[in-house]
Amino acid sequence: MQHDGFGRDINYLRIAVTDKCNFRCIYCMPADGVAPRAHDELLSAEEIARFVRLVAGEGIRRVRLTGGEPLVSRRIIPLIRDIRAIPQIEDISLTTNGALLPKLAPQLKDAGLNRVNISLDTLDPTLFGKITRLGRLEQTMAGIDAALAWGFEPVKVNCVVVRRLNQDVAALARLTLDRPIHLRFIEYMPIGDERTSSHCAVDPHAPALNPELWDASDTVPSDELRARINAGAAAAGQGELEPLDINDAPAGAGPARYWHFPGAAGTVGFISAMSNHFCANCNRLRLTADGNVRPCLFSDAEYSVREALRRGDDMQVLSIWRDAVAHKPQEHAIIEGTQRFMSQIGG
Ligand code: GTP
Ligand code: 5AD
Ligand code: SF4
Repeated sequence: MQHDGFGRDINYLRIAVTDKCNFRCIYCMPADGVAPRAHDELLSAEEIARFVRLVAGEGIRRVRLTGGEPLVSRRIIPLIRDIRAIPQIEDISLTTNGALLPKLAPQLKDAGLNRVNISLDTLDPTLFGKITRLGRLEQTMAGIDAALAWGFEPVKVNCVVVRRLNQDVAALARLTLDRPIHLRFIEYMPIGDERTSSHCAVDPHAPALNPELWDASDTVPSDELRARINAGAAAAGQGELEPLDINDAPAGAGPARYWHFPGAAGTVGFISAMSNHFCANCNRLRLTADGNVRPCLFSDAEYSVREALRRGDDMQVLSIWRDAVAHKPQEHAIIEGTQRFMSQIGG
């Protein structure tokens, strides 16, 4: 077990396998995607697995594969297989837009993936197209069905709520009535906001993302969301959300707090990244697709392990990891912003 400078157990690693995506969600990346990185800038599956093996010896027990969209990477199946072979790793999960799940679910299951979190921001097909720019609602719905059919457990669904964008939270919450899914509403984090960060450091000629959307006032606090969901339930003649006993919460390592409708098959969770940030219990570090250890989502301090991994210098990799853990900040100051898009950090 390894602790950071503030006594937090660091047992969870989020790995951005790629910064590419087959969607272009407007809160996550620019319309043209991020500038593709040269192949040799990205870690190979072997390098990532080697890294996980090393940090498993330092207390990492859970791994989440993110992106961009991890399923567009051809490395994903061999990578999961390699991580599965590391005895200390208890849980391998993946965050995806779901579009490739109908095709890949059997191989993912066979490789040893435990569970998936799928992003779904609205049930309105037109709005879904507007938010994801390249995606279609039925792709993600088919992905959710495939995850359930192939027995990934639990299946969580992530909905980022942006005030001026998606309003159908009550309808989304009602999906949990007859499906065993865990629908989590996430407070929009203004990452990539030209006013709180300078994403131009990534590409100085990048167009403004979508300025009218990138405003901290577009974050909808979880309490307000819950009230809206309850109002929708009342209008439909249904009971209100009740807090879920902590022992009944779906397996996971993240910061969501769960509720449920009486008698529902699934649950409704809230990730209050802005209104009630969870830094005091943060258990995670990140590895970017280009081989940097990132101690905090919101801080651009990064520690490159790529060259040490390529040299096969395990002692150096461990020394860089320990340095990154020791420098994990106590809490985030989102206002300081970040130079990276969400798609490059892995959410
Ligand atoms: P599990 O609970 O293990 O299923 O994972 P999770 O909820 O942490 O993972 P997921 O990838 O589904 O992320 C859900 C939301 O939490 C996303 O919007 C992430 O950006 C956000 N999130 C994850 N880690 C952090 C973090 O360290 N800080 C903040 N502020 N948000 C985070
Ligand atoms: N704020 C909150 N969540 C975000 N995600 C992507 N960008 C943001 C943002 N700006 C979510 C995705 C995905 C998860 C990894 O992060 O919807 O579910
Ligand atoms: Fe792709 Fe996920 Fe970002 Fe949407 S939020 S563009 S699906 S990485």
